[in-house]
Amino acid sequence: MLPQIVSLAAILTAAQCFQLNMTQFYEMPQLYDLDDYDRCMQELDGETSSYCFVRAQVQPDESVAAWRAIAEISRYDRHHFDHRQLYFGLCLRECEASLAGLDDAELESLLPGLLTENEKVNVYLGLFAMEAQNREQHQRLTSACLNWRLKRRGFSLRAKSVVEYCDEAGRVVQDDAWNLTFYGLLCGLMVLASLGSLVDLLLKRRRHDKMLKERDHYKTPPKSLAQQLLLTFSVARNWYRLNQEPNGKIGRELRFLDCFKFFSMFMVIFAHTNWVIYESAISNPQDPERLLHTAAGTLLVSGSLITVTFFVISGLLLTINWLAVARTLQSKAESWTFLQYAVLFVKFNVFRYIRLTVPYAFVLLLSGVYFDTAGGPLWRHIYEREQLACRRNWWTNLLYINNFVQTDERCLLQGWYLAADTQSFVLSLVLLMLGHRFAKWSKQLYAVILAIFMALPVLLTYALDYYPIFVPTPQTQKDSFIGDRQFTEFYTSSLMNFGCYFCGVLAALVYDQLALKQYKLRELRSFQLLWFALIPVGILWLFTAHPIFQHYYVAPSAIWGAIYAGLQRNLWAFGLSIFIVGMAGKVGWIFRKFACLPIFRILGRLTYGAFIVHLLVARIVLATVREPIYFGTGMMFAFIFFTMTVSYLCSFLLAIFLELPVSSLLKLMR
Ligand SMILES: *[C@@H]1O[C@H](CO)[C@@H](O)[C@H](O)[C@H]1NC(C)=O
Repeated sequence: MLPQIVSLAAILTAAQCFQLNMTQFYEMPQLYDLDDYDRCMQELDGETSSYCFVRAQVQPDESVAAWRAIAEISRYDRHHFDHRQLYFGLCLRECEASLAGLDDAELESLLPGLLTENEKVNVYLGLFAMEAQNREQHQRLTSACLNWRLKRRGFSLRAKSVVEYCDEAGRVVQDDAWNLTFYGLLCGLMVLASLGSLVDLLLKRRRHDKMLKERDHYKTPPKSLAQQLLLTFSVARNWYRLNQEPNGKIGRELRFLDCFKFFSMFMVIFAHTNWVIYESAISNPQDPERLLHTAAGTLLVSGSLITVTFFVISGLLLTINWLAVARTLQSKAESWTFLQYAVLFVKFNVFRYIRLTVPYAFVLLLSGVYFDTAGGPLWRHIYEREQLACRRNWWTNLLYINNFVQTDERCLLQGWYLAADTQSFVLSLVLLMLGHRFAKWSKQLYAVILAIFMALPVLLTYALDYYPIFVPTPQTQKDSFIGDRQFTEFYTSSLMNFGCYFCGVLAALVYDQLALKQYKLRELRSFQLLWFALIPVGILWLFTAHPIFQHYYVAPSAIWGAIYAGLQRNLWAFGLSIFIVGMAGKVGWIFRKFACLPIFRILGRLTYGAFIVHLLVARIVLATVREPIYFGTGMMFAFIFFTMTVSYLCSFLLAIFLELPVSSLLKLMR
């Protein structure tokens, strides 16, 4: 153990040695050059004015110091932005004024050409297809304008460019079918909620039962079916449902999971808010770039392991539900027919689909709604990109195939998780049914499946030459993960994640066996030791990505890389499963006490809603920036705190008005 710690410490300190040469850094042009948007839109003098957002790519020229700096710094693409990519916000009026004194020959020298070869930019151009006319009309002017600016600032660089979109003053939002559908739905929900709440109130008045406390009324189910249907939308009733104590032994033993969910979601929101800050404009890109060279950078990168928590919990809960259902039916019949399995399979899937999809579809609808905004040079680049992608590709989300279909135009990017989770759910259910049908062979079956899905990431990584870890590079995040093969094929594919999900399934089976045999894990000294050891080991495990991520010059050897790729997530999931089984067995001292606090009951239940809305929330503020913002700890945490709070508030509304009514309707259908 000691040598490992020493070598780890050595690696950690070695990595701090990377020094960004700041003299060289300031030889490069700034990533952003944004004209005053509000002035351009408001100072009209009777003429119309356009403001264009233009993407530019610096062309190579070895004789220029600025290009050498760009090439040298962008070489570290895992840590640094691609400094060839420049973002211009140009007020056309100012452009015309600045070019007024130039003759034709000078103008011609400022036109290095149209940027056509950048695949990521082309995806944006495809989405903003309605801007084709603006693009053609303003191409010459913007190209000359931005190259003239580069020249005037002393960079003897030339940049190919293309207009992404142009804004004109006084644009009004037209309500179209999509918007109207959303507003209609919103009204419908409001009406149902008010109606349900009113009926509930009347029923309570009518009851006149002195013995019955206020809240008991809301907890007792009404008599007739019609009342039951209406009351699913009652706000007061849903508030109590949100608060409800877990019932049953299993529910009580597993209530610490709510805390896990909440903290994992905090991490997810943390990482995603950072991503959206990268996507908008930063005035000091050197600081996040330097941060990524440190141990904190490694933590940020291997923090993607947090997602595994959700896979494990998800597999666990599926299996617990399955076991409960299988037990209740078991007593009735000896052996099930194929038809019984099929019916159960459909039922499980349909119920899960409805429960997940109704709130998800609502948020999808919301994310495609056009509305009046403060706008800004980057608004459409950040927010409307999402709106357009959602209007085009919402169906991939609803079919839960968005982790492999239309991956360049993703709507609600975090939805890849739901897709991978759904695919894993279906597969696991089939496996559990097979294990149930051929109970004699179930152990062998599960062992083989586990072995296959532990080995599969290794083989795929080796065969398809993936990088051993998923690195969300700054430029990848800036480009909203467009065209990132590693993200699409390595990180979000359900084949790569199924091992983790299956660990959760196995954890539930183990937990179930322990409960049946009334085995007291807590009394086992060695298990206690193992359990507490998992915490420091888990933290160290995050740092094992350090040598790979901070490996500057040589690529890691293919075979070890592949093995690490297989182990990173799967071992984490395996450890987490042991951790969860232990905690369910009441191991964990104050950690368990803390995780069982009642506050997490509500927060844990709001996790799903927060997960589906948080990116919209993060984008809606960051998309209105006019000037590049300073990326610092304080600012970062302010944004994270804001995104977190607003996401949970939105999730609360979503739960009261939509999620909980749907889940109680489903209960009525059972
Ligand atoms: C930093 O970059 C400048 C300009 O390219 C160069 O002159 C200087 O030698 C570099 N310093 C170091 C320490 O490499």
